[in-house]
Amino acid sequence: MRIIRSLALVASFARLLVSGQNGDVCRPQDRTYSDETIPAGSFQPWDLFLNPVTNRASARFYVSIVNLTPHRFVLEHTHQYQMDTFSFGDIPQGRARQNAVKYRNRWATQDDAGEAYYRIDGTDQRFVVRLKGSAPLVENRKVILDLSGMNLGQREYKFPGGETSVTLVIAGSARWGLYASIRHDRGGWMRWIYDTIKDRPIRHLIMPGSHDAGMSRISNKILSIGTVFNTQTQGINIYDQLRAGSRWFDLRVASVHPAYDSGRYDGFWVLHVNNEMADVVVGNSGESLDDVINEINRFTGENPGEVIFFSVRYLVGRYQVPDRGPIVWTPGIMNDFFSKLRAINNRCANLDLGTGFQNQKASYFMDRNGGKGCVIFMLNGQNLREDVPKESLGDGIYAAGRMGVRDMWSDKMKVDALAPDQINGWRAMKRGGSGDYDQLYIAQWISTPDAVASTAVGLQAFAIQQTNPSLYWSGVNSISPDRFPNVILVDYIGVQQKDQTGWDQLSAEMYWLTIGLNLYTVSENCEISKRRSPVLRARGMGLRSRGSEKPWNGIIFANGTKIDNPPPDYHPGRIELLRNGTVFRNGTVLERTIPNPWV
Ligand SMILES: *[C@@H]1O[C@H](CO)[C@@H](O)[C@H](O)[C@H]1NC(C)=O
Ligand SMILES: *[C@@H]1O[C@H](CO)[C@@H](O)[C@H](O)[C@H]1NC(C)=O
Ligand SMILES: *[C@@H]1O[C@H](CO)[C@@H](O)[C@H](O)[C@H]1NC(C)=O
Repeated sequence: MRIIRSLALVASFARLLVSGQNGDVCRPQDRTYSDETIPAGSFQPWDLFLNPVTNRASARFYVSIVNLTPHRFVLEHTHQYQMDTFSFGDIPQGRARQNAVKYRNRWATQDDAGEAYYRIDGTDQRFVVRLKGSAPLVENRKVILDLSGMNLGQREYKFPGGETSVTLVIAGSARWGLYASIRHDRGGWMRWIYDTIKDRPIRHLIMPGSHDAGMSRISNKILSIGTVFNTQTQGINIYDQLRAGSRWFDLRVASVHPAYDSGRYDGFWVLHVNNEMADVVVGNSGESLDDVINEINRFTGENPGEVIFFSVRYLVGRYQVPDRGPIVWTPGIMNDFFSKLRAINNRCANLDLGTGFQNQKASYFMDRNGGKGCVIFMLNGQNLREDVPKESLGDGIYAAGRMGVRDMWSDKMKVDALAPDQINGWRAMKRGGSGDYDQLYIAQWISTPDAVASTAVGLQAFAIQQTNPSLYWSGVNSISPDRFPNVILVDYIGVQQKDQTGWDQLSAEMYWLTIGLNLYTVSENCEISKRRSPVLRARGMGLRSRGSEKPWNGIIFANGTKIDNPPPDYHPGRIELLRNGTVFRNGTVLERTIPNPWV
């Protein structure tokens, strides 16, 4: 009897140890991800997108807020002056809300304004969204995301177009540390959350991807009609794409040959063309392969310990004159290509070919090269002759088939057709446990405009007005701990405002989306993560992971100006006086002017 009792005591003590001492077990009942119904959002209307006049004069906009924390974002208060719509609401854990505003849009006085005050539930953290219009044109409609109360700074944004969204992503937790998308942090995000992702197979990670990654400039190596407008797909080069979080690169490489000489060629270049095997190609060239290699090496030198995938296609020659058909690569050209690639540092030779790369743990790659990680080139050899080598295992260059990939391309021009198609794709697969989807799933969150539309408005406008902003309400609300894509492939990664491609002008929604999804959302799937979610772990048990950069509570203005140490009481756009006519969230209308009690 006594023995039994003490055995029971030992057992309960052991349970206490497990749940109390390290608490490091994922339990379904601890899940915080919310299944609440979120009000539907709105895509930018197609007619408005195409019409530069109505687009610029639009009065309706959105502020999408993404909550990748275990805390509810509670809307405490709003007030607005002369706004026709000012519809903000709570954002539950793991979800996003597209909040709508509409200015009254008069040409005379333009003092329409409003503020939304949020509290992060269960914490002492607060943030404010401020809106202001100084004239009735898009470029005069400002949003200020004020996270100074969280020591995360303030940023003024312009809307990228009429009826488009500005986005705020908040990731982490009170225990882990909270972070916001108004700026990037350290480049090596995978190493930063190594502890969380190291035991997950690659098919359980979520990574940003760069569509047509080398097309961040137009280099005119082929004499075709591809322009910045209809052919350039990225605003920043591969080094900055890596710093902005991208770990999957769609890279299309060709050799470029003088007009009449298939035997000679002017190096390897990234191309973006309609069909690389066509008699006549339409498109243009981007970065040189040499530049791409230098940019990769610069990044991995500064940020060791990541795993970076390059999915390489084309592998064919083209004449500078684009109407002479393709030049199929000889073994000699292929070997030149391999020797070029040998200049890439941290390649990973002789990986285990018995297991699909998507099923290897992240640490299998990240620990290689003495902890410096892996840069993995995978070649799609569909244009290569039989006598041409398709991989070079000793060089760490692999055939695409070494990884099981499902690449989901919608081939749709309009975002309201693209988004549901992409979402249906990843909602159809379950992640973790029995029936776990066993491939790497690439969601191509990119529109595919026809030649007329891309030439009329430009690929950049498609990305920054239509496609990318919709990811953060439409896409994110369909990502759950059990259903998610592995690569989210985008155009113009990091770019929020047209042609604003300087590092400090970029915006970090994709970067924090990815960190937040891996850290918070996927960690709540106990069939994937056996350990307690890092954002729920008690302080001191997991690493409280401050970024590499010093805490920053400055201001970034929409014109790119940055102030690192603003005066403590400086809040651009803050409404100091609530004017007669101000409307509160509960419908109360002020009948006299008072000082803003929320200041
Ligand atoms: C940018 O905007 C801020 C705030 O409106 C202003 O103080 C600053 O002078 C502007 N900088 C430039 C270079 O225009
Ligand atoms: C409406 O909200 C304001 C500000 O929070 C508050 O002072 C006022 O009492 C509320 N009115 C009603 C009817 O609840
Ligand atoms: C507030 O505005 C209303 C409507 O314009 C006006 O009737 C009222 O006199 C104003 N109140 C004050 C205190 O000015």
